[in-house]
Amino acid sequence: MDPERADAATHETVLATVPPRPPAPPLVHLAEGLAYGGDYNPEQWPREVWDEDVRLMREAGVNLVNLGVFAWGTVETADGVRDWTWMDDAVDLLHRNGIGIDLATPTAAPPNWLLTAHPEIAPVLADGYREPAGGRNAWCPASPVYRHYALRHVEALAERYGRHPAVRLWHVGNELGGGNARCHCEHSAAAFRAWLERRHGGLEAVNAAWGTNQWGHRYGRWEEIMPPLGRHGAPNPSLFLDYERYCSDALLSHYLAEKAVLERHSDAPVTTNLMVGAGAQIVDYASWAPHTAIAANDHYTSVDDPLREQDLAFSGDRMRGMFADRRPWLLMESSTGGPSWQRRNRAKDPGEIVRHSLGHVARGADGIMFFQWRASAAGAEQFHSAMLPHSGTRSRIWREVRELGRHLSALAEVRGTAVAPARAAIVVDDAAGWALQHGLKPHRDLWYGRELREWHRALWERQILCDVVPADADLDGYDLVIAPTLLVVDEAAAERLCAVPERGGTLLITYLSGVCDRDSQVIAGGFPGAFRDVLGVWTDEFYPLQKGERVTLDGDVLNGAHAVEDWTERVHLAGTADGVSASAADGASADAEVVARYTSSSLAGGPAVTRRAVADGAAWYVSAPLPPEAVDAITLRLAAEARLERTAEAAPGLEAVRRTGPDRSYLFLLNHAETELDAAAEGLDLLTGAPVGPTVTVPAGGVRVLREQPNG
Ligand code: GLA
Repeated sequence: MDPERADAATHETVLATVPPRPPAPPLVHLAEGLAYGGDYNPEQWPREVWDEDVRLMREAGVNLVNLGVFAWGTVETADGVRDWTWMDDAVDLLHRNGIGIDLATPTAAPPNWLLTAHPEIAPVLADGYREPAGGRNAWCPASPVYRHYALRHVEALAERYGRHPAVRLWHVGNELGGGNARCHCEHSAAAFRAWLERRHGGLEAVNAAWGTNQWGHRYGRWEEIMPPLGRHGAPNPSLFLDYERYCSDALLSHYLAEKAVLERHSDAPVTTNLMVGAGAQIVDYASWAPHTAIAANDHYTSVDDPLREQDLAFSGDRMRGMFADRRPWLLMESSTGGPSWQRRNRAKDPGEIVRHSLGHVARGADGIMFFQWRASAAGAEQFHSAMLPHSGTRSRIWREVRELGRHLSALAEVRGTAVAPARAAIVVDDAAGWALQHGLKPHRDLWYGRELREWHRALWERQILCDVVPADADLDGYDLVIAPTLLVVDEAAAERLCAVPERGGTLLITYLSGVCDRDSQVIAGGFPGAFRDVLGVWTDEFYPLQKGERVTLDGDVLNGAHAVEDWTERVHLAGTADGVSASAADGASADAEVVARYTSSSLAGGPAVTRRAVADGAAWYVSAPLPPEAVDAITLRLAAEARLERTAEAAPGLEAVRRTGPDRSYLFLLNHAETELDAAAEGLDLLTGAPVGPTVTVPAGGVRVLREQPNG
């Protein structure tokens, strides 16, 4: 493409306006039952291997594969020169064997000829260094040249296969933003400015939102605004937050541009694989998910995580929480053993492939896919596990892959059912996470996922289901709402949270929530500004702790004394200030009760955890990162107060989740322990075909899935 023309295309057309959240699309069914398969890369193998591939796929029960995820350079071998031979062949082979295709637009990995002709499409990192070719996602989301070539190839792909009966789904790019979410090139700067103009309306509004009088950093012309560059600077937190939001929208706009091309040539649904886990994500997936026909997630457990299964449950609860109707989603990638991108890649224990996969199904997945079908002999990922490992069909992994295929086929009737409604919710917001983790903060080592995972863990261990929902979700159906470290909050979200206790629910807010408004400006008058009134408390000073420093606190509600690390606060009940009655001007009701106090440090004697009765509900404030035993104790109290029920009367260590259909429900019991465990439940075990109950024993590391109604 002529670079002159590319420049003329301007950031306005490149960064197409992201449309508002569309209404939820109709439910998508990708296979007769649950989908099963993985990334299939036949282009890495001689043709004779493919026949064995499809034979073994059928043996394993595979009914869907992700094809062509990184195939751009093997099809468009030079600018505008395309050879579809291998792909035609693979599509037909799969179709003849009844295996559906999730056809990928291969735009994650631009071909070398393109990167050589246009090195300027590669993203520029914060230190001004341009990412060299060789990796993946080596493209700038605002590059008009990249977009031109990407859409041209997507058009050719869609024209060729858009009506092919084997194509069940489109897979746009791959893990959009993985490696290229933050670009600092001149195109990104121009697109960022255009985005800012749309968000704020004008330069003066940007100056006001960002408080640019500090350090005299007022902007007199748009050209003065740059993405946050440099490694050691201290970017304005408001600029930083808007830049993160822009990056999310820029990538979404790329996804939407590809989707629009696909939809011109095909009726097959379109999605892209997200990377939803705990903590702040690369982009704001909650705003992306409604633009996908079925939300798809890639989930890998991490060796450093002592609670891998809870992480898995959290990601499922967050996937489901993105849609108000808790609709099913798709696990697009996971691993059968060690991945290869961690420092030390842990193999899965026997039984773990099945248990983890069915854990995803329990939380709403309608399909289980892996990276990848056959282990690669060559290339960067040659030591990544696969459904068909290097050692072939005599491997344990292969046996378990076949076993999983049998189980998924026995669970076909579960497809399309929703996870039973949760009455508890945890509010999560990427903007809050980005704000917490970046820039000059009272404590720079806080991980946004910590409190999210901790409160979720306490519910998960008690078999109490919760949805993990974005800050703009409707909270009306929830009796317990927990908002951990929601540093940045907009007025509408704060209002929805404050309404929870007013209508009889229980609200729990933790430290560092409601401190800043949507522009990341501190709300004056005492922390947590947005929630001061509903909580009936105010904090006048943060007391972050040094490494190894501990402060104790005590209270019946915590079941005794505990020590906290990292964070404490000087909290006051509304209407008081250091024992002196404050003016009524602080506006909050003075009826919060101190349920736990600090017992050491200069905060000794001051409130640590408070509870305020509000109408028929209650608003709790937790001012420190409590240890697990204290979180457990409060959770028990919250559950009683909100009258939450457990999914099943099951032994600790058993995960219990229910999916419900129009006339049947399915109880999943997953045993993560090393001994067999019991649950009080009854029904037909779909995995064995045997009726079970009223007590069900789940073997160590095993799974039971009961069809509960009608029995048998
Ligand atoms: C990601 C990618 C895959 C593969 C896996 C390996 O999820 O999408 O292409 O690289 O990681 O774990």
